Amino acid sequence: MALRKIREEGEECLRCVCKEVVEITPHIKDLIEDLIDTMYEADGVGLAAPQVGVRKRIAVVDVGEGPIVLINPVVVSSEGEQTGNEGCLSVPGKCGIVTRPMKVKVKTMTPEMTYEEIEGEGLLARAMLHEMDHLDGILYIDKVEGDLQDVGESEE
Ligand code: NI
Repeated sequence: MALRKIREEGEECLRCVCKEVVEITPHIKDLIEDLIDTMYEADGVGLAAPQVGVRKRIAVVDVGEGPIVLINPVVVSSEGEQTGNEGCLSVPGKCGIVTRPMKVKVKTMTPEMTYEEIEGEGLLARAMLHEMDHLDGILYIDKVEGDLQDVGESEE
């Protein structure tokens, strides 16, 4: 297990469009494990590779149902709408209101290099979409409605 340093808003790696993963190397497997460990250590519900300075299309999410690994994820379909509070480990101490789809179906590569579809609703949909935004250099603060609020600790 290795924890990686979480980069904060203002760092260039958070604003880049990340590269597709073409092969699951031991290096990539280590990165996925480290992302999961770092997410849990930081008490987050998701973490994307660019948040630890790696410009690859990989993210992990856990909304309390076990870790989900997203590799080259794409949205297949979405429906509905939810408006709620969101935070980000790269924007510590802040949160804000963001509207996203209520349900989403995401196609992702697995660590075994097969493909699967993951359906998420509510918080899982929000978390996956938030992490997928990171892979394109987008932060929730770009989408926030109204002002950012201060919180004791960030939630995502
Ligand atoms: Ni985030």
